[in-house]
Amino acid sequence: MAQQLLYLIFIFPLLLLVLLRRRRFASRTPNKSGDGGGPCRQRSHDDDNPLPPSPPGELPIIGHLHLVGSHPHASLRAIADMHGADGLVLLRLGEVPNLVVCSPSAAEAVLRTHDHAMASRPHSVVADILLSGSSDVALAPYGEYWRQARKLVTTHLLSASKVRSLRQGREEEVRLVLAEVGEAAAARAAVDVTELLGAFVNDVVCRAVSGRLSAFSAGHQEGRRRNRMLRELIEGNAALLGGFTLLDHFPSLAKVGALTRMLCARATRHKKRWDVLLDQIIDEHAASSRSAEEDGDLVDVVLSLQQEYCLSREQVKAILMDMYAAGTDTSSIVLEHTMVELIRNPHVMTRLQAEITSNTPKGQKMVKEEDLMNNMAYLKAVVKETLRLHPPAPLLLPRITMEHCDVNGYTIPAGTRVIVNAWALGRDPRSWDKADEFMPDRFLHHSCGTNNTSVDYLKAGRDFKFLPFGAGRRMCPGVNFGMATVEIMLANLVYCFDWNLPAGINKQEIDMTEVFGLTVRRKEKLLLVPKNHGHG
Ligand code: HEM
Repeated sequence: MAQQLLYLIFIFPLLLLVLLRRRRFASRTPNKSGDGGGPCRQRSHDDDNPLPPSPPGELPIIGHLHLVGSHPHASLRAIADMHGADGLVLLRLGEVPNLVVCSPSAAEAVLRTHDHAMASRPHSVVADILLSGSSDVALAPYGEYWRQARKLVTTHLLSASKVRSLRQGREEEVRLVLAEVGEAAAARAAVDVTELLGAFVNDVVCRAVSGRLSAFSAGHQEGRRRNRMLRELIEGNAALLGGFTLLDHFPSLAKVGALTRMLCARATRHKKRWDVLLDQIIDEHAASSRSAEEDGDLVDVVLSLQQEYCLSREQVKAILMDMYAAGTDTSSIVLEHTMVELIRNPHVMTRLQAEITSNTPKGQKMVKEEDLMNNMAYLKAVVKETLRLHPPAPLLLPRITMEHCDVNGYTIPAGTRVIVNAWALGRDPRSWDKADEFMPDRFLHHSCGTNNTSVDYLKAGRDFKFLPFGAGRRMCPGVNFGMATVEIMLANLVYCFDWNLPAGINKQEIDMTEVFGLTVRRKEKLLLVPKNHGHG
């Protein structure tokens, strides 16, 4: 609401000028630029199909922006339910036409049938600053550079074998967390689980990307300082790139030099802080003689391939920023939501503890990754059910159509932003029995009409009712890494401890209010009191 007021009071007069100028051109030329513009209801020049339906109430300048509340995933589902057809609805948010996708068939049309035409990302001035011309993977426009960078990431950095090779580091970080929780358990003190898991995932990611110095390791002051700084920087990225920002809706403002400079000053300052740290990390790695193959971290691997992939230093830094940032928030959000659901559903917690205990060798102090290889179907079903109800990126990452296409009988012009509402897909009562309930069993049996017997996360991108990692060419390449981190921590938290809410709070009172940004997380901290199980 405050954001909309800001638009109206400060930006309105400026926009009016810019848009009046643009509209004169937009009415004469079809938009191929990929930066939006042009009214939603115009028909395509070369197709008789209509545009997807739009809700009434479109306002001058802001379009349908006033219909989108502080939880856009929920507002967009409500709009699509009321005004959409086959889960498709077209909104003009600011100057940009946005195709909102809220049904499995529409998601399949967009992410499989027309995946190629919709495989680019909208241009972002902030991403250009932070990521040196969007030369990372996640926000890079579709094209040869993105193809090469993605190949590097999927083949060398996030492949199943590389993720396996980082196992020891993950187990070591889990051990440090368990020691800390053990102390709290001995003192019968509450643990800030939100902070604990946030720090854990940050440390796992930092260790995998750039080294073994952990925030918890005694004597590694420099490592602690670096990990803390990286966490701050990652949070800064999320704040700058996250949610629905002004320039996302009014890209033509980017052409107003003074205004862009003002809006981007923060991004520039932030990028300078990244540069100092990344340059230091890269220089240290370049000077060391560690082999990329054996126990190399991801910086070692990227540097060893820099020439083969013809990457400049700025491009290396942009790819590394993706590696630090993309997996941190997402994985800690999944872990935290899983703990919340386990507290709210004690029968699920009991069954999960039983599965893990029976598959871990007797007397073993902690669960190892090798113990997770077999017979841990319920653990995976619990994580999947959490991802269904609480996908950390409920609207995936936005795409943009590179050319005109027809989706389910509707014309989608080039330059339309595409928002796939994975949160709505996961909660659609037409796809899921008791859609709002936490029932991991649904992923173990033929049930709910989903025919979904698999607990393989990678199948997620082929089932268009369940898209926490997206699908198609731009699907998340970090599934193995993210799930390995989540599973080993979760298994150990419930294997080693019982968890209760602090005295006086009951499970119905857990506040599930969310905050929307680049990812969606719970607003309130999760405080829980651990009790030692005494294994080993
Ligand atoms: C629970 C963990 C994770 C979740 C739920 C998640 C979710 C997502 C989603 C929804 C997308 C957008 C997909 C689309 O546009 O169709 C994405 C993209 C991406 N993710 Fe993840 N992610 C997770 C972990 C990770 C990790 C650990 C990494 C790397 C260390 C990573 C790296 C990336 C990258 C590089 C992209 C951009 C892919 C592209 O545009 O080609 N993710 N992720």
